[in-house]
Amino acid sequence: MNILLLGGGGREHAFAWKIINSQNCTQLFVAPGNAGTDQIATNVNLSVTDFEGIANFVLEQQIDLVVVGPEEPLVKGIVDYFTNNTSISHIPIIGPGKQGARLEGSKDFSKQFMERHGIPTAASRTFTKANIEDGLAYINQQDLPIVLKADGLAAGKGVLICQSHDEASRILKEMLLEAKFGEASEKVVIEQFLDGIELSVFVATDGKSYRILPEAKDYKRIGERDTGLNTGGMGAVSPVPFADKKFLEKVERRIVIPTIKGLEEEKIKYTGFLFIGLMNVNGDPYVIEYNVRMGDPETQAVIPRIKSDFLDLLHAMGTFNLENYPFELHEFTTTTVVMVAGGYPGDYEKGNKIDGLNIVNKNKAIVFHAGTKLNSLGEIITNGGRVLAITGMGNSVEDALQNAYNVVSEIHWKDRYFRKDIGQDILKIS
Ligand code: AMP
Ligand code: GLY
Repeated sequence: MNILLLGGGGREHAFAWKIINSQNCTQLFVAPGNAGTDQIATNVNLSVTDFEGIANFVLEQQIDLVVVGPEEPLVKGIVDYFTNNTSISHIPIIGPGKQGARLEGSKDFSKQFMERHGIPTAASRTFTKANIEDGLAYINQQDLPIVLKADGLAAGKGVLICQSHDEASRILKEMLLEAKFGEASEKVVIEQFLDGIELSVFVATDGKSYRILPEAKDYKRIGERDTGLNTGGMGAVSPVPFADKKFLEKVERRIVIPTIKGLEEEKIKYTGFLFIGLMNVNGDPYVIEYNVRMGDPETQAVIPRIKSDFLDLLHAMGTFNLENYPFELHEFTTTTVVMVAGGYPGDYEKGNKIDGLNIVNKNKAIVFHAGTKLNSLGEIITNGGRVLAITGMGNSVEDALQNAYNVVSEIHWKDRYFRKDIGQDILKIS
């Protein structure tokens, strides 16, 4: 099979790393890719939102399967573009259409969807400029803290947890009247605060059948002990020891099954990954958010734990044959540490040469690239905020962490930064 994978982050390097191990992989192209995917596949200089360019490439290279990594092309309708274009409509593409992508693209849509299907989530109401007065009155009736969410995509910055009614009122006004997050905050969801421990569950579906992938916990803040600004993610651990069998059964029964059934009932075609952000509140799962793709860096922890052929999984999803796909996992634990450019998630430098990349014992750790590229001398340089994700494998969280940090400590560039406390909270609980 010839495969085109869209994206250029650590998530896509992890997908690529697994896909090329399949005996059914003839050629893998990654658009735009990074220096890591360049080592194992063919990078293509195409933007993930250049639908016409992608369609032409797919025809020229006789691509048999397209896999969409990030949310942006999904929310912008790449899957509908394929479905509505007869020259390429026969080619399986992994990702939901525009309608399904609203589960991530609109918090209001996802809250209403959960309400319609009885899926547990925090109580909420949505307000616009037209009824801001009702919104301000609603805030004053809520317990603290109060969660405010911009309806649309806001680069991970659109959720604010307010510690006072005044703060919540001020932020609601900024969002609705001063377009704090542009169009994304034309609607604002005001939500009850859920007090618990967070984790993420990943589902692969062809729209009817599903497979639950390994769960993971991520580390969102830049600073140790979860302090400082929010980032795309600074680390991940899988499996999550506090997500025991009983809890995961509740997730499947109360959340996964009603979500897949709900999509089917509403005639929303959904072939792809569903990432369910959950809060474990005293042993009961509540949905914080849906994403319509895999997580980054969670994927870099989850993919190495999949024993079965991943390309076969993608193909089974794309050909509506997931029911017959045998799914096996490895027993080991994975921990992922993200190495970032100094200053991230604020301003940071690009173009610094990375040293120490060639030392890995591949049985113990994997180096996934994110923001990297080759310079004109063929050297690997930094090209983004999140630069590398190092995944350690081991028989325990401690062991996996040791294997990840051993590699992290060998890799250097100017002003590199990483969190030293990935997994420490889990070690305390378990
Ligand atoms: P989101 O962008 O929806 O993932 O939200 C970002 C982060 O805000 C989540 O990872 C949670 O840590 C936090 N959060 C969102 N909604 C709630 C909620 N209802 N209660 C508590 N924390 C929340
Ligand atoms: N790590 C969180 C995300 O991918 O959205």
